[in-house]
Amino acid sequence: MTADRPVLEARELSVDFVTRSGTAARALDGVDLAVRRGEVLALVGESGSGKTTLARALMGLQRPSRGQVVSEGKALDYAPRALRAFRRKVQMVLQDAAGSLNPRQTVYESVAEGIRLHGRVAADPDGRTEVDLVGAALAEAGLRPPERLFQRYPHELSGGQKQRVLIAGALALRPQLLIADEPVSSLDASIRGEILALLLRLREETGVGIVVVTHDLGLAWNIADRIAVMYLGRVVECGTTEEVLESPRHPYTQALLSVVPEIEHIEPVVLTGEIPDPTRIPGGCRFHPRCPGVADGSAAAAGVEEACRNEGLDVLPAEGDHRVACHLDAVLATRREPAPGTPRTAGDGVRY
Ligand SMILES: Nc1ncnc2c1ncn2[C@@H]1O[C@H](COP(=O)(O)OP(=O)(O)O)[C@@H](O)[C@H]1O
Ligand SMILES: [Mg+2]
Repeated sequence: MTADRPVLEARELSVDFVTRSGTAARALDGVDLAVRRGEVLALVGESGSGKTTLARALMGLQRPSRGQVVSEGKALDYAPRALRAFRRKVQMVLQDAAGSLNPRQTVYESVAEGIRLHGRVAADPDGRTEVDLVGAALAEAGLRPPERLFQRYPHELSGGQKQRVLIAGALALRPQLLIADEPVSSLDASIRGEILALLLRLREETGVGIVVVTHDLGLAWNIADRIAVMYLGRVVECGTTEEVLESPRHPYTQALLSVVPEIEHIEPVVLTGEIPDPTRIPGGCRFHPRCPGVADGSAAAAGVEEACRNEGLDVLPAEGDHRVACHLDAVLATRREPAPGTPRTAGDGVRY
């Protein structure tokens, strides 16, 4: 049974920030999510949807305002010693590789730091030394021969090399899970594929699970097993990559996908307006002011417009198949999947 237990879970996780004017911004507003062993899970959504806040909360870097982070069935303990033990299992690679490396530290020192902090040398089953472990981690991250880089400083490295050094530092601890926040967004397009291929290879070789945060659905398509789409602090659609990207059901996911250049085209759906500010989350469905289904009358035709405007949606459960938080989809789904023996009703043609 334990093999099936998620490595990490968010349960009704919320994070409020108090803004300078004193109002509460609900950056994360009730997220249920389970990260399974060895999977690549992508968190996608526009900038401001709460992806980084969720990643930081999952790492224990951000205390939730409500709800819990659960690690292997136990609520996360924020005492420093417990957090340190937790970080041996869950490591993070941040968005900005250049800014995450200490400019005064050599490559050797920055990789050795975590190894020392977590007592990895004493714990090594093969009795390897610190130099061995640092070398092995760099080689695993594709930096070969590793000794050539030991004494280099970050300013002497390319963007791709810096990202590899960070990945090496994280993987040297043999974590069960790596949380990577926009791991390639600051890199040249030519290097992005290499770093993504590296992450996938490391997953194959070490079994590490990866939560990858990205605003790029094309990237998620290439790397993820499952996808959670976030909008304004909530997960609005979740399922396997095929389910979410080949048969997107939430109008928000459909709109995001419609403008991904790599994906074959459907009519582009241009969302009106920016993602709202989390100090003023719209009532009803939080997406309704921008929803193409409300704007084009599909919601009215399906008899749900009133609900879209006034009835909030439940938090999507962490487990299950393709899940969508959308009043319109709930109606369309019943029409798509008639109970056995029930004739299909008229109105199947309702489109977003
Ligand atoms: N430390 C903070 N203080 C105040 N507001 C914050 C803070 N961090 C994030 N936010 C707000 O929370 C929302 C979600 O941000 P974030 O998690 O960074 O989203 P994403 O990573 O999807 O772009 C944004 O509106 C952002 O301005
Ligand atoms: Mg972010």
